[in-house]
Amino acid sequence: MTEPEPPSVAALSLAETATEPVSQATEQEINPWDVQAATDAQGNVLAFDYKAISEKWNTKLIDDALLQRFERVTGHKPHRWLRRGLFFSHRDLELILDQYERGEDILLYTGRGPSSDSMHIGHTIPFEFTKWLQDVFDVPLVIMLTDDEKFLFKEKLKQPEVYQFARDNAKDIISIGFDVKKTFIYIDSEFFTSGFNRHFSLNATEFEKLITNNQVRGAFGFTGTTNIGSNAFAAKQCVAAFASSYPFIFGEEHTSYYRKERLASIPCLIPCAIDQDPYFRIVRENCNRMDQPSPKPALVHSKFLTALQGAGGKMSASNPNSAIFMSDTEKQIKKKINQHAFSGGQETLELHREKGGNPDIDVPYQYLTYFEDDDEKLTRFADAYRKGEMLTGEMKRECIDMMTVYVRKFQDARAKVTDETLEEFLKPRKLEWKGNQNPTKPKLAAPSSSKEDAGPPSVGEDGKPLTKNAAKKAAKLAEIERKKKEKEAAAATK
Ligand code: TRP
Repeated sequence: MTEPEPPSVAALSLAETATEPVSQATEQEINPWDVQAATDAQGNVLAFDYKAISEKWNTKLIDDALLQRFERVTGHKPHRWLRRGLFFSHRDLELILDQYERGEDILLYTGRGPSSDSMHIGHTIPFEFTKWLQDVFDVPLVIMLTDDEKFLFKEKLKQPEVYQFARDNAKDIISIGFDVKKTFIYIDSEFFTSGFNRHFSLNATEFEKLITNNQVRGAFGFTGTTNIGSNAFAAKQCVAAFASSYPFIFGEEHTSYYRKERLASIPCLIPCAIDQDPYFRIVRENCNRMDQPSPKPALVHSKFLTALQGAGGKMSASNPNSAIFMSDTEKQIKKKINQHAFSGGQETLELHREKGGNPDIDVPYQYLTYFEDDDEKLTRFADAYRKGEMLTGEMKRECIDMMTVYVRKFQDARAKVTDETLEEFLKPRKLEWKGNQNPTKPKLAAPSSSKEDAGPPSVGEDGKPLTKNAAKKAAKLAEIERKKKEKEAAAATK
């Protein structure tokens, strides 16, 4: 390509005298540390374009066919957050269903960065969904509380302070109703210094060796001035998806030096907001390069929850009027929804009766869709709102009632979570779960050798076992692909 011609002097002076206002349009930005909606030329915040991000990152949208298969395989009606597209995208969810059909182990993994001690509904919803998945599949779950991450990325935070946030958040998470027999919650700074983390640390070091600066710069936008702890942290959030990082959960010795190949081969399912995908893309691209290869973790991605201010806004711990917090009183909930919730109704009662409202942008209605399970009731509300039969105040009242019940139930449960309860969840231990009691497909053959140091990947893209030669070939191709990606990442950061 030839260099573009420099603008002529005449063109420059024309540009200077033009009175056109400068466009304030910006594109949406989505990465693990920065989530910003796009703005239009006038600087108005626009709604997130989830289809665009799914296309850009090459994830799959969750469609009806997948939901139907989910129901067939698990015997559970898909959660309303799946039916209504709050969890809208995925990677390899089908393979998790295959695994479940065979009655084989699955590890469920999610996490939270404890950046404050107050959690709001935007924080609890992903955990509620995770609990539902755990109930449906009946599998072990690990919840990673990344106090190290928040310490490394937030200039002002001190270690003891973030640790305390993590403990408080863990109690909030427990209040959602997790079963201590099946759930291990860990606070990074504590677990990584406990001695139970030997296999986790070996995995992390091995993974750190596989990832270059160019790769993390490409994936996360790190630069030469990013602190080095951030690079190392990224590897930790990644290897947290390997079941071999937690031998004790599966009744294996954590003091032994050697990691278990059997555990490395257990697939992982990660429910997370779409902004966390860059981490797990890195895992997916590199897990087969581990000495004991792990399958690519599967993902279910959520959208961002709507802030009280409406689409494109952000629920923020530092802005009490942006969200319903789990510590809000009935009065506060009422006031926030009445005064701060963006309404899709008309300016005046007369206009509303005449023209009707727009439930699609109406925050009280949106919140009802998060919590009301009855699809028909919601459709009725939406129709009545559009026709102007249902008023803004009525929609708000429904929302207030629902949110009050949700928050009160949470607060009752939270009052019962003691320090002892917390310690039980934080203790590294063997978990108990049943999995699929009625598998409908035969199990895959176990890996042919039981030696601890494994060779190339034993499972193909389709989840079917590979012959030795095919596995070697796959490993070679993967290596070529990886080198190509590395080059691209390097080029992208130049
Ligand atoms: N980095 C995440 C955050 O800041 C926390 C996290 C760690 C996480 N592991 C995860 C979130 C796995 C989802 C899934 O919130």
